[in-house]
Amino acid sequence: MKKKQTETKPAEDILNQEEENILARTPLPGEEELLPPSLRPRKFDEFVGQKNIVEKLRVFIAATLERGEPLDHTLLLGPPGLGKTTLANVIASELGVQIKITSGPVLNRAGDVAALLTGLKCGDVLFIDEIHRLSKTVEEVLYPAMEDYHFDVLIGKGPTARSIRMKVQPFTLIGATTREGDVTAPLRTRFGVVSRIDYYTVDELTILIKTVANRLQYPVDEHAAEEIARRSRGTPRVAIRLFKRMRDVAQVNRQPIVNRNTVETGMNMLQVDRMGLDYIDRKILEVLLKRFDGGPVSLDTLAVSVGEEADTIYDVYESFLIQIGFLARTGRGRIATRSAYEYMGLKPPEVLNRAEEQLKLFD
Ligand SMILES: Nc1ncnc2c1ncn2[C@@H]1O[C@H](COP(=O)(O)OP(=O)(O)OP(=O)(O)O)[C@@H](O)[C@H]1O
Ligand SMILES: [Mg+2]
Repeated sequence: MKKKQTETKPAEDILNQEEENILARTPLPGEEELLPPSLRPRKFDEFVGQKNIVEKLRVFIAATLERGEPLDHTLLLGPPGLGKTTLANVIASELGVQIKITSGPVLNRAGDVAALLTGLKCGDVLFIDEIHRLSKTVEEVLYPAMEDYHFDVLIGKGPTARSIRMKVQPFTLIGATTREGDVTAPLRTRFGVVSRIDYYTVDELTILIKTVANRLQYPVDEHAAEEIARRSRGTPRVAIRLFKRMRDVAQVNRQPIVNRNTVETGMNMLQVDRMGLDYIDRKILEVLLKRFDGGPVSLDTLAVSVGEEADTIYDVYESFLIQIGFLARTGRGRIATRSAYEYMGLKPPEVLNRAEEQLKLFD
C-alpha cells in the first residue's frame, strides 16, 4: 500500500509547516486598535511604571547575558491591559533575541507546540499568552522542553505512528495569564521568575498619556493628562484608548491641544465618570445593590443579569471594582461594600452588616 505523503516527510519538515500555521492563526487581542507596532515600548526605558518588576528583570537579564545563557522561564500575571504582552516583547528586545508569539487556546495538539519549539534559535523567547488555557497534552510536551530542552512527539497515526525524541535549542518560555489560580501547579513550578503586574498609579498613567500624545503628535496639557489618567482604571490599555477618543473630540472641535474642556466633553460622551467607571460598571453595581440586596450573588447570575460574558465581568470589571473597594468576592458569591452604596447614592441597609461579616470570615 502506498504511504501517505506526510508520513514520508522528515519530522522537521512537518513541524516547520505546522509552525507557520500556528503563528498565522495566533490572534493579537486588542493590539490593532491601539498603537501601531512602531510606537509600542521596545526597551525598559520606554516601559512606564512597574519599577520593582523592571528592576528585577534588568538584573536577571544582565546576569544571563554575561553568562551567555537564556533567561529563566518567566511567568507574567495580572489583569488585562496592564502590559504583559508588551513586557514580553521588551524582554526579548533587551535580550537581543527573536520572540515567537502564540496563545494557549491556539495550541490544540502536542504537535503544535512541538513545531514552535523546534523553530526556536538559541536564546529565543517563546511567548504563550493565556497560558492557563493550555491542554494537558500540550503542557506535557512543554515540561521536558522547559527543563531539559527536549521533547517526545508522536508522528503519524495508527501502525505507522512513531515516537521521536527531538532536541530544542535552549530557550526562554514567557507565559502570561490573567488567571493566576488556573495555572496548573506542575507548570507554575517550572517558571524561575514569576512577576505580578499591578494596576498603575495616576502619576504613572499621566506619564504614559503624555508619551502617547507625543508619539501620536497631538499635544495634551498637564491637567487633561492627569484627568484622563484618573479615569483609566489603573490600566494602560484604557488610558491609551481614552486619550485617543479625547484626541478625536479635540480634533473635530478644532482644538490643537487636548485640554480640560475636551476631557469633560469627551468623558460625558463616553459615560465614563470621575472614577473611571462606565455604563457596565454602574449596571453591575445597580443589579447587585437593587436586585440582589447587595449580594451575595454568584458570578454567573451577575453576568446573566448584566448581559455580559462571565469571563469579561471577572477579568475586566469585577477585578477593578474589587481594587477600588466597591465589591468583594466571598465564598458564597459577590457582595457590595458600604462604599458601593455611597457611590450609587443609596443608604446601606441592615443586611450589609451580614455581608461584611462574611467578608471578615472570608479574609
Ligand atoms: N508599562 C507600559 N508602558 C507603556 N505602554 C504600555 C505599558 N503597559 C502597557 N502598555 C500599552 O498598553 C497596551 C496594552 O498592553 P498589553 O497588550 O501588553 O497588555 P496585556 O497585559 O498583554 O493585556 P491582555 O491580558 O489583554 O493580553 C499596549 O498598547 C501597550 O503598548
Ligand atoms: Mg496580552
